[in-house]
Amino acid sequence: MATTPAFANLTLVRHPLVQHKMTLLRDRRTPTKIFKELVDEIAMLMAYEATSELSLDRVTVETPLEQATGFQVSGKKLTLVPILRAGLGMVEGILRLVPSARVGHIGLYRDHDTLEPVDYYFKVPSDAAERDFFLLDPMLATGGSAVSAVSSLKRAGGVRIRFLCLVAAPEGVRRLGKAHPDVPVYAAALDRELNAQGYILPGLGDAGDRLFGTR
Ligand code: PRP
Ligand code: URA
Repeated sequence: MATTPAFANLTLVRHPLVQHKMTLLRDRRTPTKIFKELVDEIAMLMAYEATSELSLDRVTVETPLEQATGFQVSGKKLTLVPILRAGLGMVEGILRLVPSARVGHIGLYRDHDTLEPVDYYFKVPSDAAERDFFLLDPMLATGGSAVSAVSSLKRAGGVRIRFLCLVAAPEGVRRLGKAHPDVPVYAAALDRELNAQGYILPGLGDAGDRLFGTR
């Protein structure tokens, strides 16, 4: 795991398995089924890193022989919030690591002409202030969707929010950091730039279309 000197809010997950799988994910020849499996696996590996600073409570358990001291994650209030559609692909992999996590949903799509987000759905648990949120979206491009999703979560009472993506563009990291400097961003790759249509270069194309085979 490495923080990037250019962006105080960004942590890059550089594990060799993540980098290997990211290369397969970018490959245009990778079919939908494998693409979906790779998003799932990378999300799980990233969550392992992104949860490394969760606080722990000391607990005791009875082994078959005697009492032992151990730890459990404080509060058990982890909440995953995928941004529809593409964020859905990251949920199951992370739930395998934290099966007790709740799952909220934020529905957003990017207007093709303005590139600004249009929101159409919002549902998270009501005790938002007590929860640790992991906002999930494979792509952080202009940052419009991420900024809007974080703002919605905050309006609902969310205070501890992390943003997990697979590919980030410098423009998106900058915009999210400016609007919400309190939100750490975890990414598997920081790419070069956006093209005129707001796609990340080199990127991996349209994540939602590749996940759900809708191109
Ligand atoms: C994609 C992606 C992000 C957004 C990123 O979703 O999954 O949500 O674009 O772009 P931004 O940083 O410029 O806002 P899209 O709007 O294509 O919707 P979809 O997931 O339903 O395909
Ligand atoms: N959304 C995507 O799915 N891909 C990009 O490159 C940018 C936004």
